Parts: sequence; C-alpha cells; structure tokens
Amino acid sequence: MPFNGKTLKKAEKSYLIKIIKSGKSKTRCNELLMKKFGRTIADRNMTRFARIEGLKFKKMIDGRYSGSEIAKVRGLWLLNSPEKERVEALKGRTVSGVSDKIRHLTLSGELKDGLRDNIKSDLGNGESITFVSKKYKIDKSYVSKFSDSLKESRVEIENLRRWEETDVEDLLDHIEQSQKRLLAVESEQHVANIKITTTNKYVALMFLSDIHLENVNTDLGQLRKDISIIRDTKDFYVGFGGDLIDNFYVGPHKEGIVEAVVPPKAARLAAGKLFKTIGDRLLWTIIGCHDAWDRDYADYNLPEHIARKLNIPYLGHGGDINITLNKKGKEESVLYSMHARHKYRGSSSANGTACCKEILKNIDPKFDIVAVSHNHFAEIKMEHYQRKERVFVRTGSYKKEDRFSNMLGFEPNDHDSHIPVVILNTENKNMKVVQGVNNASELLRALNK
Ligand SMILES: [Fe+2]
Ligand SMILES: [Fe+2]
Repeated sequence: MPFNGKTLKKAEKSYLIKIIKSGKSKTRCNELLMKKFGRTIADRNMTRFARIEGLKFKKMIDGRYSGSEIAKVRGLWLLNSPEKERVEALKGRTVSGVSDKIRHLTLSGELKDGLRDNIKSDLGNGESITFVSKKYKIDKSYVSKFSDSLKESRVEIENLRRWEETDVEDLLDHIEQSQKRLLAVESEQHVANIKITTTNKYVALMFLSDIHLENVNTDLGQLRKDISIIRDTKDFYVGFGGDLIDNFYVGPHKEGIVEAVVPPKAARLAAGKLFKTIGDRLLWTIIGCHDAWDRDYADYNLPEHIARKLNIPYLGHGGDINITLNKKGKEESVLYSMHARHKYRGSSSANGTACCKEILKNIDPKFDIVAVSHNHFAEIKMEHYQRKERVFVRTGSYKKEDRFSNMLGFEPNDHDSHIPVVILNTENKNMKVVQGVNNASELLRALNK
C-alpha cells in the first residue's frame, strides 16, 4: 500500500503495527521507525494506516496534548534551551520526559526573556490566558501562574507594634539596674563579725532553734523562763538557728496544721514579741525549713525580718560567725571562729555531731565551734579533733515531741536540762560546755564572781 509515494515493506508494516499496539504515540512511532529503518511516515498517513489496521494511538500526557502538540512544545523548549540541554534531550529522552522538562522550565521562569516579554505583552494587551496558552503552546496553568506573578498584590499592616533595638538595650539596662537595686536591699550575709566588749571574764552563748512556736507541744512556758534567765544574766547571748514557727498552713505538710494553737499570722506576731524580749542578747538569725516556706511561697522571711528589726546579721541558711571577745582593760582580744547552720548533710541519730565534722571537712577546718539545728535533739560536746579543741553542737528544740517524732520512737525533749550553751573565756581561748539555760546561768555567774 502506498504511503507518501512509497510502499511500506512487510517488515516495516508489521513493526509499525507492533509498536502502535504497544501504546506508542505517532511521534514515538516515527522516532522508532527512523531508528530501525532510516525513514519516517507523514503524520496523516500514519493516522490513515492506523485507522485501516483498526489501531489507536495513545493519547499523550493525561489527554491534554496530542503527540504533534508535544512535538511542537518540545521544539519550543529546544529553541529556548542552552545547547548542552538540547544535546541531552536528544540523547534518548522520551517525548513525555521532554514535555515534563519544559513544564518545569516554564515554571522556573527559564524561558528566554524574549518569550516571557511576548507573553507579558500579550497579557498586558488583554489577551486571555487560554489565547496565550494556545498561541505559545504552553500549558494554561503555567500561563495562569505567570500571569499571577505579574499582578501586584501587597498586604500592609497599618498599626504594627514593635520595639526598636534601643528599647531592648534599655531593657537590659533596666534588668542590670534592678539587679543592683534588689541586691542593695538584700540583708543576707555569709560571714558575721561580732565583737563583744565586757568587764566579765566569761560570756555564755546559747544555741536557740526549732521553736515551732504555735505548736501545741512547744514548751513556750520553759522558753519564756529561759529568756527571762538570759535577760537577767549579764553576758548571756543567743544565736538563732531557724524554725521559728511551724507555719504548716503555708508549707507542704498540711497534716501539721492540727497541732497549731493559733494561725500563722498570730504565730508571727507572737514570735516578734518573743524576740523583742531577747533583744540585744540575740546575735544572729538563720532561716529554718519551716520559715523558708514563707520565703518560697510568699517572699516573706521571718528570721530576716527579726534580724532587720534588731540590727543583727541574718545568715540565710547558715554562715560563719567570728566572735571577738574583748575584756575591758586587756589589750589582747580573743577570737572564736564558729559556723552555724540550720541543717547539714551527714546527720545521724547514732552520731549526732557527725554533720559538724562534715562541715569542718567540706567548708573550713578552722572553726572552733560548729552548730547544726533542725533534727530537734540537743547535744553539745568538746572534742580534741584535728589538732585543736572544738565544740560540736546540735541545738535541740523547745518542741517536746510531735506525731512524726513519736512515730520514729524518739524520746520527748527535756529543754530544762538539754539546751546547749557554750561558755567562752574573754581573756584566753578556752571553752566550756553546759546544758540547760539555768545551769549555764549559774555557772556563768559563778565563773564571773
Ligand atoms: Fe525544726
Ligand atoms: Fe528544720
């Protein structure tokens, strides 16, 4: 049968039927014929051949392009591509592959400027996207995107609120200044230097702590008696080691509330009055765990408040106290180096003063006296330890007992005979230990006679 003035040979005919049946497009069929037999068939003859043989050509690229359209698009892309890409495309890329490539290039705006300008100009002249799409054989959706990119669209927030760099600089200044101002009104100190000048040869120092004032089991009667004895005994001083009130309303252990005889505000007021009575005999205050609940939850600190009222050092959870004793008329004074804190690791009921030795080991070996509170048992002992005489103190409590201590099987406290007191020589470095405020008062009076 003649095609384009030529007759297909038998081999060509059967090959063509085979590739059309396999779903190839007309363009692809011609590519394959060229490769195999060195010639192609005109497009219209190819269509006619297929119709006679009852065959159908595959529709290309989701039905939107015919093979010839793709060929034109391909040509367009080839025209617009650099030589290197053209060579690559001709090296066996399929028509659909080339078509995808041109979609990509069109999307990327890589068409030659001239073509872009033409499209821009057509769109500017009011031509429709469909018209432009057909005219340049470019997919309508890409023309639409290109058209959108040409339109001006802008969002402006008219009252956007922002800060300037200088505002942030000011903020840094503000933080720095606030830090300085807050620290300026901070009264916590870690070292207290206290000088006592007296005509007496001896002074006494009582370690008062763990009062838990409003607790039903606190022996306030004994405490008031002891304070009275201290007031009546010259050169009898007091250091406070924390836990002034129970404060269970504020703290996490709500079960303790049932032991309170008054609410926290009343307890604080009463504590203030009590410490006012101790007055100038009180040398420092330390915060205890129960006092710290106020500080942590309400930024209020009762031991610090009392220290400010009485003009004495507030040592936070604990600190160093250097007591210089100066006997009137004597040139040389005597320095006692001390460390007192509410609690410290290493506490043990079998060896109550072990934590004092831990302080010597971990904080400083220089201290003559180390006092630790919190565990509510009273103990004071002199020991020749690491080449010098030391006094180790566990400060006890005026709270006789509570549910917790009962549960653990501790004996109730007996403050009258247990409260630890150290007696210090003002002329030569020499310490004596005694328990019970009344005992200490009698001993001090006798020594100073
Ligand atoms: Fe306590
Ligand atoms: Fe405590």
